[in-house]
Amino acid sequence: MAILVTGGAGYIGSHTVVELLNAEQQVIVLDNLSNANVNALKRIENITNKTCVFYQGSVLNKALLHKIFTDHQIESVIHFAGLKAVGESVNKPLQYYETNVTGTIILCQVMAEHGVKQLVFSSSATVYGVPDSLPIRENFTTGATNPYGQSKLMVEQLLTDLHIADKQWNIAVLRYFNPVGAHESGLIGEDPSDTPNNLMPYICQVAVGKLPELQIFGNDYLTPDGTGVRDYIHVVDLAQGHLKALQKLSTRPGIVTYNLGTGRGYSVIEIIKAFEQASGKQIPYRFSARRDGDLAAYFADSSLAYEELNWQPLHSLESMVESSWLWQSKNPNGYND
Ligand code: NAD
Ligand code: UD1
Repeated sequence: MAILVTGGAGYIGSHTVVELLNAEQQVIVLDNLSNANVNALKRIENITNKTCVFYQGSVLNKALLHKIFTDHQIESVIHFAGLKAVGESVNKPLQYYETNVTGTIILCQVMAEHGVKQLVFSSSATVYGVPDSLPIRENFTTGATNPYGQSKLMVEQLLTDLHIADKQWNIAVLRYFNPVGAHESGLIGEDPSDTPNNLMPYICQVAVGKLPELQIFGNDYLTPDGTGVRDYIHVVDLAQGHLKALQKLSTRPGIVTYNLGTGRGYSVIEIIKAFEQASGKQIPYRFSARRDGDLAAYFADSSLAYEELNWQPLHSLESMVESSWLWQSKNPNGYND
């Protein structure tokens, strides 16, 4: 029996495929490579000495999905495939809703037709909008402020309705906080195709000299040093969370939602200092205006995942920044090196 991983050539997907292969699972990857490089899959083979089956194509392609489910004995699906840039989603809402929402509908339709009803879905902490208090728990009110977040909420709702209609569906919705870091080999990592929007890849590109300096968006927040605080989680810990969620689905049917974060927030300044320490590089920065839509602080209560999945993040901040730097310094041009 195999696991289908949509978006498995991407950042979080590739790290999850490594963990699945290391756990002796048979893996099939479907990815249209719109935000990934096929070299990631070759590097996964180098890391694991194992291969996965790869289909280049879209989750919107129903005929291809039927072929994959017909040709392989698939028992569950981890659904990473999607578009994830918040700013871009504001300018291209149709594209975001089509890929993220319609893509999930088509995937679930084909799964149901083939009797496969075990699904792990990549959601995001962005679904909490502006939280009432911290740390954020799964039962907090949700609300989106942009099409990307709205698309994640819509999928969460449709998956809930799917389970209500057919109790055979077992679904884990995982709300990630801020994934960072890379595999310890330095062979796979985050490889943004444009100028990065997120903090860690931006710092990495400053460190290798591809970008001149970091702008820190705001230093007047009500946080200990005035800069934004986030819950950064090592991508390998996140990947492990998916394996634990898959195990859970086979023993406890239903639809479940888990935060995946560390529960500990770090400020922008703390991240820069930790990165400088790990890399020996100085990161030039200057303070600029707050970024629209940013919050002062945002971190998870992940105790539900600890209790019910027996999952705990094992990597420290040091390991997050060290592995980010190892990946970036070995591959200044990402997978094109
Ligand atoms: P990513 O862009 O690296 O991975 C997504 C993958 O999906 C890419 O390989 C891309 O080529 C593929 N893809 C896009 N559209 C597709 C389509 N129509 N058919 C098939 N493949 C398609 O992003 P990531 O950071 O690995 O994120 C994975 C998932 O986790 C996404 O759903 C994202 O919304 C979610 N998420 C990411 C973060 C984060 O900060 N990275 C945070 C919360 C949630
Ligand atoms: C962003 C997304 C969020 C997504 C999350 C995943 C936005 C508005 N939000 O959140 O939907 O779920 O990534 O990781 O894009 N910062 C700088 N300078 C930079 C970049 C970032 O100071 O060049 C600061 C930000 O203001 C923030 C922190 O670094 O305080 C982290 O930013 P980022 O990595 O973009 O993540 P989020 O804002 O948490």
